[in-house]
Parts: sequence; C-alpha cells; structure tokens
Amino acid sequence: KNIVILISGRGSNMEAIVRAQQAEAWPARIAAVISNKPDAKGLAFAASHGIPTAVVPNKEFPTREAFDAALQETIDRFNPDLVVLAGFMRILTAPFVEHYAGRMLNIHPSLLPLFPGLHTHRQALDAGVAEHGATVHFVTAELDHGPAVIQARIPVLPGDTEDSLAERLLAEEHVIYPKAVRLFIEDRLSIENGEVRIAVTP
Ligand code: GRF
Repeated sequence: KNIVILISGRGSNMEAIVRAQQAEAWPARIAAVISNKPDAKGLAFAASHGIPTAVVPNKEFPTREAFDAALQETIDRFNPDLVVLAGFMRILTAPFVEHYAGRMLNIHPSLLPLFPGLHTHRQALDAGVAEHGATVHFVTAELDHGPAVIQARIPVLPGDTEDSLAERLLAEEHVIYPKAVRLFIEDRLSIENGEVRIAVTP
C-alpha cells in the first residue's frame, strides 16, 4: 500500500508515522511527503529517510482550484491508497476532497466537534473546558467536520497556556495518528455511508 503525507511545516506527526511504519514494518510504504511550503522543516526529515519529496507552492497558483488540481496531480503520481494530512494548512476544494473520499485522513488538535478551525488551544482555554484533545478524522468537504476515527484526551491543568497544552497534546497526537493510519493500512478502518467502521483484531 502507498501512503502520501501532506505537510506545511514542522512535520512531527509525519515523523511519528514514518517511525511507526519503520519500527512496526507495516505492509505499506510512505510513497511521498508533499508540502505546499518550500521551506517546510519536515521535508528534510523525509528526504533523510529516503522518502521522495515534492513541493507544490500554493503561492504560485492564481486560485484554490488551480492549486488543488496541481496538488492532486502530484499526489496521484504516487498512486496513493491513503492520503494523510499532517499539519497541512490549506483549505481544500470540494472536488479535491471528493477525489480522495474514504481515503484521506486529517488530525485536528481539538475534541471535534468542539473547536474547528485555528487556535484550538486558545479556544479550549477561553471556553474553560476541563478536557482537551485531538481527533483523527476522515476528511469531508466541511472543514474539520469529518467523522472521527480516534480521539486522544488530556486534562486542562491549572496554569495551562496555549503552548503547554499544545506540547502535551502533540505527544498524544504522535500516538493516535500512527495508530489510525495503521488501522487503515491493515484494511480495518473504513467509512461507509458517512460512518466510521473499525474492525477489531481477528
Ligand atoms: C498539529 O498540532 C496538528 O494537530 C495540527 O497542526 C499541528 C501540526 O504539527 N493540524 P506537525 O507539523 O505535525 O508537527
């Protein structure tokens, strides 16, 4: 199976997935890591692990549609079974999302449906919630609304800041995202009629 991972920056979730794939010898390969930013830090990690990288710079495209078309063409060169958004900071058009329906995952740093969009740690602190978290979900046309696959939860502690929450949560993201990708690769995770199905271990 071929996995294509899209990043925009640091790429620590991508790194966690690559490390799990190698350590656990998944029946899959990371076929490519693709960024919309030429200077995304994660590109160097991917290249140093022998993973093909590509950049599709969104700035060079006049419209979202043109960018998404070029991105899709680049992704599809690697024949992906699964597309993994890992800190990929672009809103995607409906035709693009439709093209990868049922085979594109994202991780969002909140307990969806709470706090879609940006600045989720700030949103959580402002709302005064006792618990925060992250959600791996299938990508659907509505931003940060696709059906949840796995969630990680952390308590909000007295004195927590956006940074402290982000840091504690990131460690949990690095656990749940590889888990979800592995389930998909093992054909144990799918979406049917908008509902997530996870098969238990045989
Ligand atoms: C993560 O917190 C992820 O949930 C969010 O953006 C951040 C990306 O971090 N979508 P990284 O690039 O994977 O290190």
